[in-house]
Amino acid sequence: MIYLNGSFIPIEDAYISVLDRGFIFGDGVYEVIPVYSQVPFRLNQHLCRLQESLDKIQLENPYTTHEWVELIDKIITNNDGNDQYIYLHITRGIAERNHIFPKKVKPTIFIMSSPLVVTSEELAMVGVSAITASDNRWLSCDIKAISLLPNVLLRQKAVESNATETVLLRDGFLTEGSASNIFIVKDKLLLAPPKSNLMLPGITYDVILELAEKYKIAHEVRDISENDLRSSDEILLTSSTKEIMPIIFLDGKKIGGGKPGDIFKNLYRHYQDFKVAIMRENLL
Ligand code: PDD
Repeated sequence: MIYLNGSFIPIEDAYISVLDRGFIFGDGVYEVIPVYSQVPFRLNQHLCRLQESLDKIQLENPYTTHEWVELIDKIITNNDGNDQYIYLHITRGIAERNHIFPKKVKPTIFIMSSPLVVTSEELAMVGVSAITASDNRWLSCDIKAISLLPNVLLRQKAVESNATETVLLRDGFLTEGSASNIFIVKDKLLLAPPKSNLMLPGITYDVILELAEKYKIAHEVRDISENDLRSSDEILLTSSTKEIMPIIFLDGKKIGGGKPGDIFKNLYRHYQDFKVAIMRENLL
């Protein structure tokens, strides 16, 4: 069961116009929200980021926070599985093809749920490979825009190199991954690139920094050079669907001896405990 413009319908029956500005221009924004034991994780933060994305593309939020929460709850209960991920998408609606914003057009609102298959602890404790590429995206990567062609092409590069993610470098500095945020560890210090227009402000990124603070893991938010990245002891990727994963090969070279490091293992454990604590709180 999905939600499209006011109706809950089977996905097979869901259609949109070919004139939808999402289809024609990629003119819209989205969110991906993980759900554990039927409880959306950091929903408020995802809805705040959605509001920021909408503001940046000058599109009015069609619903109040309360309305979003109700819709998302309905989608969760109408779909199988305790662990799901919600994909939520708003476009500037249907209008004659013209770059200029149409006047008085209803946005298209789409919400669906898919099973959330988080990485097993076994794979997390093995790690994944990544390649690097030049970050050739636009200068508004802080907007969670549906126009993802550059990210798609960059991610495909990784897959074609038998890697999981493409780590992006712009002007000699780390920005993020094609679909994740990236942290490094150098001399036992966890480093995160500062939020800017060059990266998506990840919800998982915030959780990781909060956990580092809470558990007194030395950390710093600062620019990370290509040299820092390549000489790091650990590289971590984070996202709502992948949670936290260690990168153990970068461009075919071992990172941290080709094994997940201690800071990763610590953060992984704290992240899992944090999820359980949140679920318990919701059940009380
Ligand atoms: N992507 N950076 C980019 C470019 C992303 O696409 C994502 C997530 C992130 C991590 O953000 P968060 O922790 O809020 O998930 C960073 C989602 C999962 C996607 O597009 O499927």
